[in-house]
Amino acid sequence: MTSPKGTFDILPLANELWQQSHLWRFFEENVYASTKLYGFEEIRTPIFEKTELFLRGVGDSSDIVSKEMYTFEDKGGRSMTLRPELTASVMRSFAEHHLEQKGALHKLFYMGPMFRYDRPQAGRYRQFHQMGAEIIGGKSPLHDAEIIDFAVSILQKLGLTKLNLFINSVGDADSRQAFSQALKEYLPENQLSEDSRKRLSTNPLRILDSKDPGDQALLEKAPKLRDFLGSSSQDHLQIVQEQLKTWGHDTIIHPRLVRGLDYYNETVFEVTAGGQNAQNALCGGGRYDGLLKLLGGADLPGVGFAMGIERVLQALIAQEKAPSMPGLCSLFLISLGDAAKSLSLKLLKDLRADGISVVMDYSGKKIKDQLKMASDRGCKYALIIGDEEISSGQAELKNLASRETKKISWQNRAILKGDLL
Ligand code: HAM
Repeated sequence: MTSPKGTFDILPLANELWQQSHLWRFFEENVYASTKLYGFEEIRTPIFEKTELFLRGVGDSSDIVSKEMYTFEDKGGRSMTLRPELTASVMRSFAEHHLEQKGALHKLFYMGPMFRYDRPQAGRYRQFHQMGAEIIGGKSPLHDAEIIDFAVSILQKLGLTKLNLFINSVGDADSRQAFSQALKEYLPENQLSEDSRKRLSTNPLRILDSKDPGDQALLEKAPKLRDFLGSSSQDHLQIVQEQLKTWGHDTIIHPRLVRGLDYYNETVFEVTAGGQNAQNALCGGGRYDGLLKLLGGADLPGVGFAMGIERVLQALIAQEKAPSMPGLCSLFLISLGDAAKSLSLKLLKDLRADGISVVMDYSGKKIKDQLKMASDRGCKYALIIGDEEISSGQAELKNLASRETKKISWQNRAILKGDLL
């Protein structure tokens, strides 16, 4: 039996380095530290929601909703969907619990699995993981700048370099409407790819995303979104860019960046990293001022992003920035003979109570084999206790990396602890 296509296991030792659990821990610990620095609080919502939430929230003309959702009928005949993203869920939760009554500004973050029925390929999975953040209740472009700075600084802290920060404005609803109309009038329907032809009636803006070379050529001379932006949208984008600049981030205006979800207005952005699979965005987001209201909540603006954890780990490996596997334990306890074994079992418990990570083999392997086990598991030290060590109170502590040994008084836990920590 194998795991379903497009899914994977995260293991202590995996053939694919990015599937090793210590890297996921490394990512998560870094993120938790950053969320504290930026004042974000955690939100956890269900893995599945009523299908209607994503139809309304993400938009039924988006690829996510029209092609990629894991939708099923539960035993009560209700249509449910495994969450393909979390912004809609966060808004649902916000509205349901009237968080607008609990403060003026809300900074929330989340981490967890998402599900999209996409064609699996490098950097694209059916169960994938996102870390994301949303600021709800702030209209100022400084919030857009802060959320982008937060996303980029997480990536930088992890060790990534050569990051490209693409930014654009999709303006307000009126400018998008006028631009969509102009695109519809300009683009020759019969020369477009099949996907873009469909989008011409459902969501012309998304044609800008098309990878089809024929569509790209047609778009060269097509009306430009930026020419339809009002002055307030242009000012908004400029403030975001200027603030990002003062915080040390260069932005690249990407005039065709519109993003694949329907809820955006004003700022949209994506971050990629140089190296392998550079075309895959590590993270993306933007402003979505009408979403909460659309889902029955208060009329509060929002801005956020989500990053794909798999892609971030893959980029770390491609850039040779992934940390190596930490040793499992400080100490491997080796006992020889029954008396030593029972003493070691007691010492095992006592040392753990002292906060020292210790493991022991119970199967009575030879010293040589136990030393190999200790090295294989990345233990720093081995302590060998036999009858002689019991009577003398002295045992040999072996540093498994340097092979140096030293005699220590193994019964004196304070000294032992000093040596081990
Ligand atoms: P998104 O661009 O659909 O945005 O996804 C964000 C990130 O999730 C992508 O940049 C990518 O790294 C990762 N990702 C998406 N699909 C897959 C996949 N099939 N396999 C692996 N990684 C994937 C959103 O989800 C929005 N909710 C972001 C947002 C939050 N906007 C405002 N707030």
